[in-house]
Amino acid sequence: MGANLEIADLKKLARRRVPKMFFDYADSGAWTEGTYRANETDFSRIKLRQRILVDMTNRSLASEMIGQPVSMPVALSPTGLTGMQHADGEMLAAQAAEEAGVPFTLSTMSICSIEDVASVTTKPFWFQLYVMKDRDFVINLIDRAKAAKCSALVLTLDLQILGQRHKDIRNGLSAPPKFTPKHIWQMATRPGWCLKMLGTQRRTFRNIVGHAKSVTDLSSLSAWTAEQFDPKLSWNDVAWIKERWGGPLILKGILDPEDARMALSTGADAIIVSNHGGRQLDGAHSSIAMLPRIVDAVGDKIEVHMDGGIRSGQDVLKAVALGAKGTYIGRPFLYGLGAGGKQGVTTALEIIRKEMDITMALCGKRDIKTIDGSIIAENPFAV
Ligand SMILES: Cc1cc2nc3c(=O)[nH]c(=O)nc-3n(C[C@H](O)[C@H](O)[C@H](O)COP(=O)(O)O)c2cc1C
Repeated sequence: MGANLEIADLKKLARRRVPKMFFDYADSGAWTEGTYRANETDFSRIKLRQRILVDMTNRSLASEMIGQPVSMPVALSPTGLTGMQHADGEMLAAQAAEEAGVPFTLSTMSICSIEDVASVTTKPFWFQLYVMKDRDFVINLIDRAKAAKCSALVLTLDLQILGQRHKDIRNGLSAPPKFTPKHIWQMATRPGWCLKMLGTQRRTFRNIVGHAKSVTDLSSLSAWTAEQFDPKLSWNDVAWIKERWGGPLILKGILDPEDARMALSTGADAIIVSNHGGRQLDGAHSSIAMLPRIVDAVGDKIEVHMDGGIRSGQDVLKAVALGAKGTYIGRPFLYGLGAGGKQGVTTALEIIRKEMDITMALCGKRDIKTIDGSIIAENPFAV
């Protein structure tokens, strides 16, 4: 795969290897994409403290997320249609995460099913739940995740309705892809992708097809979401889902201190400060800007995680310094997957691990567990 030194290298490669409609699906935010951009750029506004002449030997990035050991506090975000970035994408990414010692989170809207991923992994992965109006289907999903021995349920709360993403509409995104001249051209110019896709049976939403009743037009993601996702989802639903699941529960999509306090009262194990990678409420603050306020509100009572805009190990370190016990990466691993399948995801994780390790040392620290606000020189988002 050549010399890939930073996540941007993997993004460049993915753009060349993945058909435009699927590459754009990953590289898009809602409306003006302002929040999507801010997620990345706000990290660069936080400055680190350079320290010298401290012992830099024996460094460790090992830590815990919801009590589970992780080789570094970086999990793979749940992402829909991952099996369209690369054939069998979710299975390959899960294997890469397992080998790297970090959690993999499977999306409800994945191409490979819970059972597919369980069949190629040996350790438990996490499952992300979207709540549909069809409660029997939701209960069935929870039970399937339990049967597959998933070790955490990530309940996403910021997508009761879908944010408008212009690129997807213009591209006529669907899975499996339509066979119009435009879509055929997009695929024909990516022969490696096509060849691998022809070699797998997994080309539709396998968590859903054959499991949910009355699935009419699943190929149109936006139409299906509008029809099936529950716009009336409430805090009361969190209670019954928690009870039905009975295991570690992570609430995803919290961007406001008031919602963080509500989340606290559910008894969940962790919350993820997230704006869905800038794909939902464009115009909202970046995740890293809101992290200090949410940590200030609930950080001593519940484990706080964050995602959105992490493109380097430095970003992870900054999030940890501002109080995140764990972080997640979405696009970085998707770009890796598109660029080079399982090896590409491994490379993305290695890039981040190496950047984090060296940065930690240059900040004068040896153990990620000791990272706190003292490594920050300047933070415009401080409470
Ligand atoms: C292509 C794509 C698909 C996504 N699908 C889901 C999903 O199915 N469920 C979910 O909870 N979040 C989904 N997200 C949001 C991610 O879980 C995560 O919050 C976001 O990607 C983090 O930002 P980052 O991509 O900048 O790291 C998706 C994000 C992307 C980029």
